[in-house]
Amino acid sequence: MAVTVWVCKICGEAYITTTDKPARCPFCGAYEKYLIDSKDYDDTGDWDVELNETDKANAEKAIGVEISNALFYKCSAKKVKEIDGIKLFKILAKVESEHAAVWKKILKLDKIKWEPAENCEIDYKADLKDSHAREERAIKFYGEAAAAAENPRVKEIFQAFVEVETDHLKLSEERLK
Ligand SMILES: [Fe+2]
Ligand SMILES: [Fe+2]
Repeated sequence: MAVTVWVCKICGEAYITTTDKPARCPFCGAYEKYLIDSKDYDDTGDWDVELNETDKANAEKAIGVEISNALFYKCSAKKVKEIDGIKLFKILAKVESEHAAVWKKILKLDKIKWEPAENCEIDYKADLKDSHAREERAIKFYGEAAAAAENPRVKEIFQAFVEVETDHLKLSEERLK
């Protein structure tokens, strides 16, 4: 079986498989279409992006959304008692942190400011409802930001994250049924 290194066009991380291409990037959740065999991958210019005023403002707003959501999920993973909830919120915190790291690279920031702290509940259902509202807001904003984006790379990231956050929305939707 061939061992393949897949590089994610969205977050730039690599993943080794001995099977087919994964359906999602294990780091940022981007869909299969963004995963490229490292032998065919050229990342020149991926992180050297010219931002106009709108794209810069939206990237700055986006990193704020991702930081807030990552901190909320970290809080929830610590507070809820259900094992499914602990696992779910922990992975969501990781993925949203990865999204924040993508915007950090696009904005050429030295580091991410992990603040302000976010509140969450002990009650799993309450946190699922908060998660649902957060993902809905993110999807709406990222869709608008993708449509408004002038830079194709910024547009691509916003479009990819609309899909990822839609996966996240389904996770809370299924559990709130
Ligand atoms: Fe990725
Ligand atoms: Fe995200």
